Amino acid sequence: MENHSLQLTTLYEISKLLGASIDLNKTLKGAMRVLSDFLEMQRGTVALIEGGEAVIKAAHGLTIAELQLGRYKLGEGIIGQVAKSGYPIVVPNVGDEPVFLNRTGARKNIKKDNIAFLCVPIMFKREVLGVLSVDRLFGDDEVTFDTDLRLLKIISSLLAQHIKLSRQVEKEMQDLIAERDTLKIELKGKYRIENAIGNSPVMQEVFEAVHKVARSKATVLITGESGTGKELIAKAIHYMSPRAMQPFIKLNCAAIPDGLLETELFGHVKGAFTGATAIRRGRFELAHKGTIFLDEIGDLSLGLQPKILRVIQEREFERIGSEKTITVDVRLVAATAKDLPKLVREGKFREDLYYRLNVVPMFLPPLRDRKEDIGELVACFLAKFNNENSTRVEISPEAISTMARYQWQGNIRELENTIERLVIMSTGKKVQTQDLPINIRESASAAEYDNRIMPLYQAEKERIINALSVSDWIHARAAKLLGISPRQMGYKVRKYGIGKGLS
Ligand SMILES: Nc1ncnc2c1ncn2[C@@H]1O[C@H](COP(=O)(O)OP(=O)(O)OP(=O)(O)O)[C@@H](O)[C@H]1O
Ligand SMILES: [Mg+2]
Repeated sequence: MENHSLQLTTLYEISKLLGASIDLNKTLKGAMRVLSDFLEMQRGTVALIEGGEAVIKAAHGLTIAELQLGRYKLGEGIIGQVAKSGYPIVVPNVGDEPVFLNRTGARKNIKKDNIAFLCVPIMFKREVLGVLSVDRLFGDDEVTFDTDLRLLKIISSLLAQHIKLSRQVEKEMQDLIAERDTLKIELKGKYRIENAIGNSPVMQEVFEAVHKVARSKATVLITGESGTGKELIAKAIHYMSPRAMQPFIKLNCAAIPDGLLETELFGHVKGAFTGATAIRRGRFELAHKGTIFLDEIGDLSLGLQPKILRVIQEREFERIGSEKTITVDVRLVAATAKDLPKLVREGKFREDLYYRLNVVPMFLPPLRDRKEDIGELVACFLAKFNNENSTRVEISPEAISTMARYQWQGNIRELENTIERLVIMSTGKKVQTQDLPINIRESASAAEYDNRIMPLYQAEKERIINALSVSDWIHARAAKLLGISPRQMGYKVRKYGIGKGLS
């Protein structure tokens, strides 16, 4: 009877302990202490499953050195077997048991015959979370293994719930921290240009221009290859301007069919055409007091160009189907990856529109012309995707320098996508050069080769340009001058990408 109430007290003490804190380390240690205090168990351990092993997390009666040795593969030794099978094991006499590993060496000095070893799984639903085990000196005969085992099972189920709960809390905490961090990054990204990386002199110039131009209402034309950050800069101009609290409205001129584009821009009244069942406001109206960003403006059809021109000049337009003129206060930012002067020459882009747009030109250099920024960009994207994926992928300096030699036709977007892929595909080890996509490795070594033959290449290119410029850009005449055939000349002009005006 006395024994019975002792067991109840033990359970009560343990449950009190578990209710007091969710710090797993602390509570597991406390539970072990209670067990030894009340039940005269010699030693006790709690091992938890981590990465396919049962690792001792708390113990009573073991030295720290002994504790550190307590690591069992599933199926290995008694603790490992219980962890694997999820069934309790009782070794009535430790000395007789060959699988008894005594890994920690804790029982070296005791005559083994007197010790029983009881080991129960810590289970939540059908999942084994760990193993609770105790040593008991026998001799006090009132106690049977069955009563001990029953008590340990109750304790282990209390522990199981506690472990589950504390892990859940831990996870929620981590999620919250991650969310807080992304929010911080987003906030920074929206209002500060600091989010855009660019310590290279060329980018510093761009940033300086952004600072200056943001204050004004001037129209800005951003040019640069795909993925160089045109949209990022357009947003920076808006969010750094006095209009920051007003709408930033984006329209991609290339993504919308011509017929729809006009409605998108200017809106329509009810009944303006079949299907116009309600009045609709266009992007220019929505952008009132804010900024309108016309992306891919080079793709604007010749038909629509005069209409845009009028809004830019007059800041007024009519909704389709209406005669009423609407006046708006809108700041215009346009962007294109196309060569607008060339389109103007080819008659595909109105010259007057071009000059209206090109009030403040801003050119974003391709990434290969500002390789100094690559290291910082890699670090920034690595941090971003590690955060998104809860990983800690690292990239070796050699791999980064290989990346710096690559041409990055897709510019920052390509770099960003590459880093994301590396983070997702990572095997946990540091990313080395050989882990990079083959095209990056190959073109990096080709670039080295190109660099060596560069002087030759440059010299010939210059010779051809010189010959052309003194021959009024007439290929045949220049060919004669150089002593090559017109066909050879045509080939070289194409090969070196020589165009008129590119001298
Ligand atoms: N200076 C920079 N620092 C950090 N990230 C950048 C920078 N410039 C661009 N990025 C990132 O690179 C990606 C591509 O940028 P963005 O969409 O602005 O380019 P784009 O020139 O508009 O490209 P496209 O012509 O393909 O539309 C985005 O994810 C953007 O956040
Ligand atoms: Mg873009």
